[in-house]
Amino acid sequence: MRLLTGIQPSGDLHIGNYFGSIKPMIDAQDENEIFAFIANYHAMTTINDGEKLAHLTMQAATDFLALGMDTDKSTFWVQSDVKETLELYWILSSFTPTGLLERAHSYKDKVAHGFATNHSLFSYPVLMAADILLFSPDIIPVGKDQIQHVEIARDIAIKFNNRYGDILKIPTYKVDENVATVPGIDGQKMSKSYNNTINIFGEQKLQLKKIKKIITQDIALEKPKEYENCNVYNIAKLFLNEQECLDLQNRYKKGGEGHGHFKLYLADVIWEYYKPFRERKIYYQAHQDEVRDILHVGAIKAKEAAQEMIQKVRQATGIAY
Ligand code: ADP
Ligand code: TRP
Repeated sequence: MRLLTGIQPSGDLHIGNYFGSIKPMIDAQDENEIFAFIANYHAMTTINDGEKLAHLTMQAATDFLALGMDTDKSTFWVQSDVKETLELYWILSSFTPTGLLERAHSYKDKVAHGFATNHSLFSYPVLMAADILLFSPDIIPVGKDQIQHVEIARDIAIKFNNRYGDILKIPTYKVDENVATVPGIDGQKMSKSYNNTINIFGEQKLQLKKIKKIITQDIALEKPKEYENCNVYNIAKLFLNEQECLDLQNRYKKGGEGHGHFKLYLADVIWEYYKPFRERKIYYQAHQDEVRDILHVGAIKAKEAAQEMIQKVRQATGIAY
């Protein structure tokens, strides 16, 4: 099956991003055809600093390669390297009722929070529709916040097809209910906006400092402790196999150790888990030209895949004359 996903280049990745979206995508590469791109045009709705956007784009590429994006199996590119997306975006605009965009939650939220809105923020779902429809994916794996955007893409595709025939593949999303919401150091959902994250590639000392701040119950050292609702345990279990989970549960039940001990253990577990990824990141950071080459090859593959659809759309609409 062909799975398509867009990655916002938004800075340091945390373990919520990893277990919530990156790992499922990396794991899916063995059995599916993955199309993944860095959504740098989309990022312009929030980043208006050229150096910063270029830097974040390369950082996202470096991080995803380090975390296991396999470009032999998958197609991985930067959105702006495939200009056919912009062409389709414009063509689809004529099939997008303004009311459809006015109803988009993400746009309405920004308005409600008093952001100075602009056209790119408003038309963001049309660009996302073009990202999707250009590649006819079978499934778009999404978090709940993106469902409405895929529904808008469906509506646009249906309108287009009603006019020109069965050309665009009507997109289907999938929310993976098995993916856990990773708690942050305060027990709320881990998120950059709550400042409660543990980063994947943080410095060891900073990572330990963050982990020591995880909120836990205050119970005397010698007493048994509950693991079920403990933030330390709930983060640790993501990294542990069944036996290691049982061993940790027993340490909680036995008493004689405090949450401080479990935090040190968690810090070690996380550090070890990401060791091979860290090493790959160091390699790619030292070889940024190689990363650019990989992205360039990805863009060629993506452009090839886009040709069939864009030609059909040009023919149908009369843009090809
Ligand atoms: P943040 O909330 O830190 O800004 P994003 O909204 O950029 O994170 O999330 C990027 C991806 O990571 C999304 O697919 C989202 O579903 C996933 N994700 C983010 N935080 C978590 C979490 N705490 N648990 C599970 N998945 C998460
Ligand atoms: N809007 C998505 C997000 O904020 C990123 C994205 C852009 C995307 N284009 C896409 C996701 C196409 C899936 C398909 O996370």
